[in-house]
Amino acid sequence: PPLHSIINSYDFEKVAAETASKKTYAFYSTAATDCWSRDMNESMYKRIWFRPRVMRDVSRIDTSTTILGNKVNVPLFICPTGLAKMIQPEAEKALARAAQSTGILEILSTSASHPVEDIVAEAPGHPFFFQLYVNKDRRKTEELIARVNKLGFKAIFVTVDAAGRGKRESDERLVVDELVMSPVTGERAKTDKKGGGLTRMMGSFIDQALTWEDIAWVRTLTDLPIVLKGITTAADAKLAMKHKVDGILLSNHGGRNLDYSPPSILLLLEMHKCCPEIFDKMEVYVDGGIRRGGDIIKALCLGATAVGVGRTFLYSLAYGTEGAEHLVEILKDEMDSCMKLLGVRDLSEVHPGLVNTSDVDHL
Ligand code: FNR
Repeated sequence: PPLHSIINSYDFEKVAAETASKKTYAFYSTAATDCWSRDMNESMYKRIWFRPRVMRDVSRIDTSTTILGNKVNVPLFICPTGLAKMIQPEAEKALARAAQSTGILEILSTSASHPVEDIVAEAPGHPFFFQLYVNKDRRKTEELIARVNKLGFKAIFVTVDAAGRGKRESDERLVVDELVMSPVTGERAKTDKKGGGLTRMMGSFIDQALTWEDIAWVRTLTDLPIVLKGITTAADAKLAMKHKVDGILLSNHGGRNLDYSPPSILLLLEMHKCCPEIFDKMEVYVDGGIRRGGDIIKALCLGATAVGVGRTFLYSLAYGTEGAEHLVEILKDEMDSCMKLLGVRDLSEVHPGLVNTSDVDHL
C-alpha cells in the first residue's frame, strides 16, 4: 500500500504483518509467554482520561524539548532494537537519516545490524545515544565503549532488565534461517528442540552477573551521561538515585523479557506514589506500547521527559527512511492536536492535573 494510505501506527503494523517474512514479523512482534505485558502496555494508556482546559490561545504549538541537553523537535526517541535489517537492509542507517531529518534521537542497540561507525556516518553532526548490553567478556564491553566515546555519542543507556531471556513463543515456533548471525558474537541461529527462536542466540553474550556495583565500572570507561533502561520499581529507582545515574528509562522491554511486569504507564504512576523525588533528581523516560500522540502527552503529563517507540519504527522501515519520517510526522500531528484540545501550548505546560488516572490508581 502507498505511504499516504498509512495514517496511524497501527497501519504500519498491519503492513509489516502482511509484507515482511513470517519470521521477521514474529521476531519483532513477539513478547514473553502470554504477551500480557506487551498487550497491557498498549491498552493501559486507553484507561487514562484527559482533563482538558479550554480557551487558552493555542494558535501556536511547540512540541520541542531537550533530552539530556540535546534539543529535539518531538519528545520521542527510537528505541534500541536488534537486527533491524531483517525488514530492510539499510535498517538502523535508514532510521538514523529519519532521526536527523525529523529532529529526534535514535538509541543504537549493542545488537544493531550495522557497525555503529557506519550508522552515525549517515547523519553527520546529529546526536545519538548508545544502548549497552554488558558482555560476559568485560573486555569486549570496554572496547565497545571506547568506540562509542570516540564517535561522539551523547549518552549510554545501560539495559538492566535482560539478566534472563523471555520465552518468546511466536519466535520459537518458526524455524529460523540458519544464515542469520548475531551481530555481536557472529554465532549462527539454529532450530533445536526448544524451537527456532532468535532470542536465545541474540542474548547469549549478555552478562547475567551484572550488579549495581558495575555502574561505577561503566563510569570509569566514559564521561557520558548514564541512563538505566529497564527500571520497573520505585525501590530500584531509589537505588538509581543513590548511584547517581543521569536518568532512568521505565520499561518492561516491550513485554519481551519478564511477562507480567507492569505496563509502562503504571510504572510512571508508581514513581509518583512511591518515589516522587526522582523527577527532580534525573530525567525519567518511558517506553512500551506508545502508539498515539495522545499516549506521549499522557506520559509527559505524568512526568516523563520523553518517550520511546520500538516496534512501530521497525515496522515503518518497510518504507525505509521515508516510512520512519512519516511515523514521526503522524505522532507529532497527533500530539499537536491533542495539545491544542488540552489547552497546552508547549511541553512546560503539561502536568498531572491534565489527566484522570482514577481508573488505574488502585492497580
Ligand atoms: C527490542 N528491545 C531492545 N532493548 C534493548 O535495550 N536492546 C535491544 O537490543 C533490544 N532489541 C529489541 C528488538 C526488538 C525486535 C524489539 C521489539 C524490542 C526493547 C526496546 O528497546 C523497547 O524497550 C520496546 O520495544 C518498547 O516497546 P514497544 O514500543 O515496542 O511497544
